[in-house]
Amino acid sequence: MIKVAPSILSANPLILENEVKKVEEAGADYIHIDVMDGHYVPNITYGPNIIKYLKKITNITLDVHLMITPVKHNLKSFIDAGSDIISFHPEADNESEEIIKMIKNSDCKCGIAIHPKIDVRDIMKYLPLVDMVIIMTVTPGFGGQKFMEEQTTKISEIKKIKNENNFNFEIEVDGGINNITSKLCIEKGAEVLVAGSYIFNHPVDEYKKLIKSLK
Ligand code: DX5
Ligand code: ZN
Repeated sequence: MIKVAPSILSANPLILENEVKKVEEAGADYIHIDVMDGHYVPNITYGPNIIKYLKKITNITLDVHLMITPVKHNLKSFIDAGSDIISFHPEADNESEEIIKMIKNSDCKCGIAIHPKIDVRDIMKYLPLVDMVIIMTVTPGFGGQKFMEEQTTKISEIKKIKNENNFNFEIEVDGGINNITSKLCIEKGAEVLVAGSYIFNHPVDEYKKLIKSLK
């Protein structure tokens, strides 16, 4: 069963509570929260406070995608805020093993995200340790970008490694997901699909239909 994680990057921040409740009612499995620091990526979004308040209004899994560098310096505040899954980009910090340990020693699941410029072989050593692997199909930083189809070979590669080794992580694909690109990802082994603009750039009464069209 495919899971859908709406990314609130494309939601209206002034009515965020309502947006989250609406996608939850519409069948969302996770809420994907894109944390950007204006440094690892050119854009700036939110800090741990948003997670703390989302935690008070929903029980849905908060899937936090850190696009920050360094990572460890700010990690504890994202754990303490109530994140359920924290993913980070290993090349953004030279203490990735320590970061994975810190996350896993808390109540939180740990993921790594693969930037389009990073090869699977460069993150291989983390695969036995993590609960989620995010394959990026856009350059991190902005919603609404074009899907990079060539990145989907990484989905098959990761799926193969997962099956051969009986690893437990979920395979999430992030960027440019719509009802067409979702099919390509599912065929290759995607298990969780992040979708921002495809959902939130449409009227609220279409959320249910849109989420269903991805599964
Ligand atoms: C991009 C973010 C994505 C983004 C996806 O840096 O990691 O999660 O919100 O947005 P869409 O679905 O519009 O490509
Ligand atoms: Zn993301």
